[in-house]
Amino acid sequence: MGLIKKFRIKSYKSEEAIVELKNISLFYNKRQIINNLNLKIYKQEILGMLGPNGVGKSTIFNLITGLRNPNHGEILINGINCTKLPINERFKKFNLALVPQYGGLIHDLSMLDNLNLVAEIHIKEKELREQKINKLISQFEFDALLNVKAKHLSGGQKKKLVIAMALINDPKILLLDEPFAALDILTIRMLQEIIMNLQSTDEISVVVCDHQARDLLNCVDRAIILSNGNIIASGSPSEVISDKLAKTEYFGDEFNIN
Ligand SMILES: Nc1ncnc2c1ncn2[C@@H]1O[C@H](COP(=O)(O)OP(=O)(O)OP(=O)(O)O)[C@@H](O)[C@H]1O
Ligand SMILES: [Mg+2]
Repeated sequence: MGLIKKFRIKSYKSEEAIVELKNISLFYNKRQIINNLNLKIYKQEILGMLGPNGVGKSTIFNLITGLRNPNHGEILINGINCTKLPINERFKKFNLALVPQYGGLIHDLSMLDNLNLVAEIHIKEKELREQKINKLISQFEFDALLNVKAKHLSGGQKKKLVIAMALINDPKILLLDEPFAALDILTIRMLQEIIMNLQSTDEISVVVCDHQARDLLNCVDRAIILSNGNIIASGSPSEVISDKLAKTEYFGDEFNIN
């Protein structure tokens, strides 16, 4: 197991699902992308999703947020059936935050204005808004970049900004679509620590998908491996990497996280 896991002092095992996908199927035209998927995301867990390109990871985030509706099945959040609840209501009611795989910024605004924009939507009091933004600026080491337009930030700086923007309203359910892509090694480490601190201090549930399988497995409680529209393996990081089917379909024989 990687270094990060050694710092974990508590394991988070709740029986209570905060998000439940029940018998979900989704087609694009006649192509079936998700095939009768059943998935529970538990309160205060960090769940990792792994799977090859095009398997449906971003689609699962879209289903949870309401960006896409399933053809069959139900989506429950906090036990409430919200399959038909529009995206804006879902975000507000359940305090969701999504870091999308691409985009998520206003390119012609500076870094600070992007942060202010989101903060003004969520936090009424000016003082609290400033406190929150200042905390994120120091946490993400944004000081020197505040006046740079988002379109002029590097790939990794953009990704960090989108992640910081997602944290502004203290989400209860945080969905991270490839947060480690484009980040350098130390920034990945910082983000892993932020994710784990959120789990322990703010009691939030985090779902993260990424192709940096090692970095992902080093900070999750549980991982699922997707193939052909469904889950083929689920368990602790060490359980999924030793799973036979997961090896054949995703990890290959050589993969390890030591
Ligand atoms: N709007 C769309 N119209 C048609 N097909 C789509 C649409 N959005 C996604 N798809 C298809 O759905 C499948 C799943 O896409 P998705 O983006 O969820 O994959 P992913 O697992 O996130 O892949 P990656 O690891 O490359 O990001 C792909 O085959 C993709 O072509
Ligand atoms: Mg994707």
